[in-house]
Amino acid sequence: MKILVTGGAGFIGSNFVHHVIRNTDHTVTVLDLLTYAGNLASLAGLPEDRFEFVQGDIGDAALVDGLFAEHDAVVHFAAESHNDNSLSDPRPFLDTNIIGTFTLLEAARKHGTRFHHISTDEVYGDLELDDPERFTEHTPYNPSSPYSSTKAGSDLLVRAWVRSFGVQATISNCSNNYGPFQHVEKFIPRQITNVLRGERPKLYGTGENVRDWIHADDHSSAVLTILEKGEIGQTYLIGADGEKNNKDVVELILTRLGQPADAYDLVTDRPGHDLRYAIDSSKLRRELGWAPAYSDFEAGLSATIEWYRDNEAWWAPQKDATEAKYAATGQA
Ligand code: NAD
Ligand code: DAU
Repeated sequence: MKILVTGGAGFIGSNFVHHVIRNTDHTVTVLDLLTYAGNLASLAGLPEDRFEFVQGDIGDAALVDGLFAEHDAVVHFAAESHNDNSLSDPRPFLDTNIIGTFTLLEAARKHGTRFHHISTDEVYGDLELDDPERFTEHTPYNPSSPYSSTKAGSDLLVRAWVRSFGVQATISNCSNNYGPFQHVEKFIPRQITNVLRGERPKLYGTGENVRDWIHADDHSSAVLTILEKGEIGQTYLIGADGEKNNKDVVELILTRLGQPADAYDLVTDRPGHDLRYAIDSSKLRRELGWAPAYSDFEAGLSATIEWYRDNEAWWAPQKDATEAKYAATGQA
């Protein structure tokens, strides 16, 4: 299969490309605009006969049309992905997440291309800390932020293009990813790289917010499973039962890096900060036989800490600009 991967120079997209090259015979073309979040270094070392890179915008209809004509399937990761950025400047989120997805769907309609849309558990809003329920495929949409509302909008476009135009699409909504190649604006890499630079981790609010962590390689295996075996028109939730509150994660990072567990700062909370996410992925496990390989979050986190320790040349160029943005919002 010839797969077009949008956003393949970003965190999860690049992990997915490495996963596909390692585990299948498929060839991959990445279409990526190389925004601040894209990094060609994340795609270094891929075999030239199975991998190609195209720099461009998913909203560029002519470029997209030509690429769809040449590929059997499209996996759509490209997005503006960071909640804090969506609060300071929402416009790029509408352009890429809504109009960009619309542009891809129109090409999928014209060419009859198999299309997999990557989305997030944030479309469901948040849960109370003591709520026994988790998100399922039937949970009503209730997004909180400009980011999550544009992802919800893009999901609804996909569903409408399936129903109205017969587009051959599936959707997955995944929980919080961690692993190599994640931008230092995000929670886990920000705290690891702070400690590595002798700075203190920064916890929003009281640190009680809960995220449901999954390793990016498990997200990749789930997406590949859905691409190969998923039923057209279906939505699958992806998660690995990894609920942890932010304070516990920061304490683990500090301890693993030889610092006192309480050597962090509490900083200004994120406006509208979702309290808790939790995924019930039993449909994906039951119907498609998928299971995560990383069942031990602490082991996966330790490997991720090692990766950032060994790859300072990858993250150092992003770090100062990222911290300058946080300083402007009081989250530093
Ligand atoms: P990221 O910000 O690391 O990467 C996004 C990539 O998209 C970058 O390489 C960027 O250059 C590219 N891009 C942005 N706008 C583009 C455009 N207009 N045209 C072409 N390329 C463009 O994001 P990520 O964390 O890897 O997330 C990837 C996808 O997974 C997103 O759709 C996100 O909503 C979803 N998701 C992320 C998580 C998570 O924990 N990070 C969890 C669930 C779902
Ligand atoms: O749930 C899936 C979502 O996970 C994806 O759709 C998003 O693309 C991805 O960015 C992520 O969103 P979050 O907002 O949950 O991730 P973030 O890494 O920004 O923050 C994780 C938690 O950590 C959240 O509760 C906010 C908190 N936080 C974040 C930063 C950057 C801090 O306490 N301190 C920080 O410095």
